[in-house]
Amino acid sequence: LNVMVQAAMKAGRSLSRDFGEVQNLQVSLKGPGNFVSQADHKAEEIVFNELSRARPGYGFLMEERGTIEGEDDQHRWIVDPLDGTTNFLHGIPIFAVSIALERQGQIVAGVIYNPAMDELYTAERGGGAFLNDRRLRVAARMKLEDAVIATGVPHLGIGHHGNYLIELRNVMGEVAGIRRLGAAALDLAYVAAGRFDGFWEEGLHAWDMAAGMLLIREAGGFTSDRNSEQNMFASRSIVAGNELIHRALLKTLKKPLAPR
Ligand code: IPD
Repeated sequence: LNVMVQAAMKAGRSLSRDFGEVQNLQVSLKGPGNFVSQADHKAEEIVFNELSRARPGYGFLMEERGTIEGEDDQHRWIVDPLDGTTNFLHGIPIFAVSIALERQGQIVAGVIYNPAMDELYTAERGGGAFLNDRRLRVAARMKLEDAVIATGVPHLGIGHHGNYLIELRNVMGEVAGIRRLGAAALDLAYVAAGRFDGFWEEGLHAWDMAAGMLLIREAGGFTSDRNSEQNMFASRSIVAGNELIHRALLKTLKKPLAPR
């Protein structure tokens, strides 16, 4: 965990410097609505160098470099060097570095760092979840009608717009509020911290979810894909909350379109 924290904070400092002069960064498009900048690449290089120096041989799955096989096939780092790139490039200070360690297919440690707010989220399997030094617990609200639920809204490069609108219509009719932060790793960290009661999004990647899933579990919460399976990486979907909110959200997401 110390190695991960050092890597995330060093990458976070690089992101903070680049955030200060975001208008000078080179930006390109990976696909429709999917930006990448020099800042993403620099942060990824820092994380890669720090982690490979500390644990030579571990493999990687990284947002920009993709899969890098290691000699040690039991361990791999799952890294999003800049989650919330679109926010970052628009000067919105809601973005984070996310690093998870997977051992034999299980996430055993996770770190999410938001440098703009200096918030460091950490979790180790069986050891609890923390925001800076404070132990985290998911929110205790029991009903959707009292809940604030976060989501990710698809854009021009992502399909399922029609299905998403049906889900949104159903959820908005049952909850106290809906939020969209624009950084899935932070959405999940906020569920772990009890700020959001729940979260759902489709179209994510393992690097958006891996660290946040562990944080939520270690804070006493539940995560699954939209079919209630533990298949989030392959299905690229996630639903999260405390036990009751997670269950209620899954049920609401599966409903056919509610009448107006
Ligand atoms: C994105 C953010 C965003 C989510 C997108 C992700 P990126 O990650 O997490 O909240 O809605 O689906 O791709 O590309 O900024 O690392």
